[in-house]
Amino acid sequence: MAKDIDTMEDSNPSSAPSIHEMSDPARRTVLQGGLGLALGGLMAPWAAGTAADEGAGPLLGFKSVPVSTADAVVVPEGYVAEVIAPWGEPVGLAGNMPAFKADAGNSGAEQEAQFGMHHDGLHYYPLNGASDRGLLAINHEYVDPGLLFTDGMKTWTADKVRKALAAHGVGIAEARLAEGRWQLVRPSRWARRITTATPMALGGPAAGHALMKTAADPDGRRVLGTLGNCASGITPWGTYLTGEENWIFCFSASEEPTGHLKRWGLRKGPAARWQEFDERFDATKHPHEPNRFGWIVEIDPMDPTSTPVKRTALGRAAHEGATVALTQDDRAVVYSGEDARFEYLYRFVSRDRMKPGGAAANATLLDHGTLFVARFDADGRGRWLPLVHGQGPLTVANGFADQGEVLIKSRQASDALGATRMDRPEWVAIDSRTREVYCALTNNYKRGMAGEPGPDAANPRADNTMGQIIRWKEDGDHDGAAFSWNHFVLAGDPANARADAKGNVKGDAFACPDGLWIDARGVLWIDTDMSTRQMGRDDAARLGHNAMLAADVRSGEVRRFLTGPVGCELAGATMTPDGRTMFVSIQHPGETASEISDPDRPTRFSSWPHGGRPRSAVVVIRRRDGGLIGT
Ligand code: FEO
Ligand code: CA
Ligand code: CA
Repeated sequence: MAKDIDTMEDSNPSSAPSIHEMSDPARRTVLQGGLGLALGGLMAPWAAGTAADEGAGPLLGFKSVPVSTADAVVVPEGYVAEVIAPWGEPVGLAGNMPAFKADAGNSGAEQEAQFGMHHDGLHYYPLNGASDRGLLAINHEYVDPGLLFTDGMKTWTADKVRKALAAHGVGIAEARLAEGRWQLVRPSRWARRITTATPMALGGPAAGHALMKTAADPDGRRVLGTLGNCASGITPWGTYLTGEENWIFCFSASEEPTGHLKRWGLRKGPAARWQEFDERFDATKHPHEPNRFGWIVEIDPMDPTSTPVKRTALGRAAHEGATVALTQDDRAVVYSGEDARFEYLYRFVSRDRMKPGGAAANATLLDHGTLFVARFDADGRGRWLPLVHGQGPLTVANGFADQGEVLIKSRQASDALGATRMDRPEWVAIDSRTREVYCALTNNYKRGMAGEPGPDAANPRADNTMGQIIRWKEDGDHDGAAFSWNHFVLAGDPANARADAKGNVKGDAFACPDGLWIDARGVLWIDTDMSTRQMGRDDAARLGHNAMLAADVRSGEVRRFLTGPVGCELAGATMTPDGRTMFVSIQHPGETASEISDPDRPTRFSSWPHGGRPRSAVVVIRRRDGGLIGT
C-alpha cells in the first residue's frame, strides 16, 4: 500500500532512543554469498526437469529497461506483457458473471462476483502440475472511493459500503494458456470471491478469548471477512496465506482513544465511513471488533466451499504477509513483517510437524506453536524473543492475562520485550539454497526525527526515504534462537546530493523495496512502492515510476525488469512451474497525492490499462521465444 505517507498508521508511542547503536558503516555493504550453500530446497515448488535445472547460465540475462514516466507497463526487449483479471472483471462464478461497467456503476452485489480493487500478493496454483492451466489467487488490498463509485463519496449509501467491503479480500479464478494467450476460464468450479463479509473461523490461542467476543459473535470464534489483504504466502501443504495490513483505517474510534486502541492507531471518523452503515466498524460501540482483524488468514484455494481461518497463533499486526519455511524435521516456520513505522518483524515456529495429506491433514498446524519477535543487535547478530505468556515481562502484573491476550496485543508484548523497531517491514523471501531470509524495509522518513527513534544498526539512515533490504541466517535450522544478519542492499540513487539517499545499489537505482520473491533459479525479484508524495521529493527525482527489479543474490547485481504506469506500485509476483510465465500485480495506477481520486476526473493521471478509469490488474509476462523469464 502506498497511500499518503503522512497518514500511514504510525502509533508506536515510544520516544526513547533506540536501544541499538549505529552499525559500523563498513558492514553496510553487500554480503558476499556462500553461507551454507547446501541446497535446502524446502520450499521450492518445482519439479525435476523444470526451470530450476535449466537456469544454469548467468542468473540475469535480460537487458535492463530504463526509468519510465509512461502510462504503460514496459518490459525488456523480447518480452510481452498482457493484462488479465483487472478490477471489476467477473471471476467466473457460474450464473453470476456481471460485466464491468466503465462508469463504475456496478452494485455491491455485482462487485461480490468480480475481482476487487488494488491487487497485491498473488500466487499461481497449477492444476495437475500444469504450466498452462491453474488457479490465480489474488489479494485485493484496499479501495479508492473516487474510482470505485461513479460519484465518489458525494453520496453515501449502504450499497456503497457493501461494494467497498466486496472490493477487499481475495479473488480466486482459473486461467489457462490457449492459442498463445493467457485467459480466464469462466465459469470455473474453483472461482471464488472472499470479501470483508465472508464468514471465517478463528483458530489458535486467541479463538474464543474474551477480547474477541462481540454482540454478533458471543463465542468469539466466527468473524465476518478479511481486510487490508496485502502480501501473500503459500504453505507446503497447498494453502494460501493473506496478511491483514491496513485494517485500522476502516474502524472508527472515539476522539481520544485510550490504551489498547491508541497503541493500534485507531482514530475517530476514518475516511472509509463504513461505520455509518455497518455498525461493527464503530469501535466505540463494538470495541472488540478491531481485535478480530490484523491476522494472517489461511485459505484452501482448491476447495471453494472451505472456510478461511484466521491463525491467531501467528500474532496480530498490520501484517504485510507471511512466508513459510520448513525445519529439517518438517515443522512450519512463518516469517511476517508488520508494515508500520517503528513496528516489528515476527517468526512463528509450529509445535507439530507437517503431515502428508495436504490442507486437510494440516488444518490446525498453524494453531499451535511459538511466536517470536526479532531483535537486531549492532554486532551483526540477532535474537528471536518469545512472545510466551508468563515469560519475562509478559505477565498478569504487566497486563497480559493469558497467551490469547499476548497475541491480541502483540505490539504491546513486543514493546515490553525490547524488540527492534523497524523501518516498515514488508515482504519476506527465503532463499532455499542458502536458507538466507530477506526482508524489505520500505522506508521511514520519521527515523531520527525529534522525539522519534534514531538510526540503529538494522535501520541505519535518518529520514529514510529510500529503504533497505535486510537479510539474516538462523543459527542451525530455521527455528534457531539467534541469527547473523547484514544488509543485502541499501536502496537509493547515487546521483542524489543527500548522503543518506545515495544507497549502495550495484546496478539500476531504486527506492522503497516492498514485494520480495525468490524464484526457482534463485533470482530475487524486488517490487518498489514509492508513494506519489515520495515521488515528488528530490530523492526520487531521477527514479521515474515504480518498478520491478531482478537481483542476483550472489553478486548483488540489480537490473530493472519492468516499469509500471503512472501512480502505480508493483505488488506481488508468481510464476508457472516451468518458469516461462510470470504474473505480476499492478496496484493503484493513477494514484493521486490526495486521499482519494477525483470522481469527476477519473482518468486525470492514468487510463491504464484499457483507456478508461485506471484499474489495478495482473500483467502476464512471457518471452516471445517462450524462454525462461529473466535469463
Ligand atoms: Fe500493503 Fe505494506 O504494503
Ligand atoms: Ca508498501
Ligand atoms: Ca506491500
